[in-house]
Amino acid sequence: MQPLAAGLTSPYAHLRQIVFSRSLTSGTDPSVEVTAEDPIALVRGLKQEEGLGIWLCGGAELAGQLLPEIDELIVKQYPIVAGSGIPLFRAEFSPRVFTLTDSGVFGKGNLILTYARTSG
Ligand SMILES: NC(=O)c1ccc[n+]([C@@H]2O[C@H](COP(=O)([O-])OP(=O)(O)OC[C@H]3O[C@@H](n4cnc5c(N)ncnc54)[C@H](OP(=O)(O)O)[C@@H]3O)[C@@H](O)[C@H]2O)c1
Repeated sequence: MQPLAAGLTSPYAHLRQIVFSRSLTSGTDPSVEVTAEDPIALVRGLKQEEGLGIWLCGGAELAGQLLPEIDELIVKQYPIVAGSGIPLFRAEFSPRVFTLTDSGVFGKGNLILTYARTSG
């Protein structure tokens, strides 16, 4: 369920929150910035600012657009086969190489895999 549908207007209140949308003109919460700016330009600008890392929380469309700016992937893997689903990235075919830098195995076979971008 999406945060808004669950009644969460500020799901990461301890962070600066920026929502990309062409359909929303303003946020439903004063602490959330809504923008239709080019994601690549915005993220490149954020990277020039002082502060912590940038956490991209989004689906395939936004992640696909921002793929050139993604330096680290944290993938959660569950031992479930669904048969079909949505891709992690919706982007044109353009392989990028990542290196596994950390991993964690949890009960029932759940994994957290961290990768750093190596090239591309
Ligand atoms: N595992 C995770 O961490 C994680 C996180 C988030 C989502 N998800 C899952 O991913 C799936 C899809 O999520 P999602 O719909 O958030 O992802 P998405 O497909 O990346 O988001 C699409 C929406 O983002 C906005 N958008 C995309 N590119 C934009 C641009 N250049 N400028 C302005 N707005 C832009 C548009 O919103 P408007 O239609 O409002 O214009 C578009 O409808 C869901 O099933 C969700 O549960 C998983």
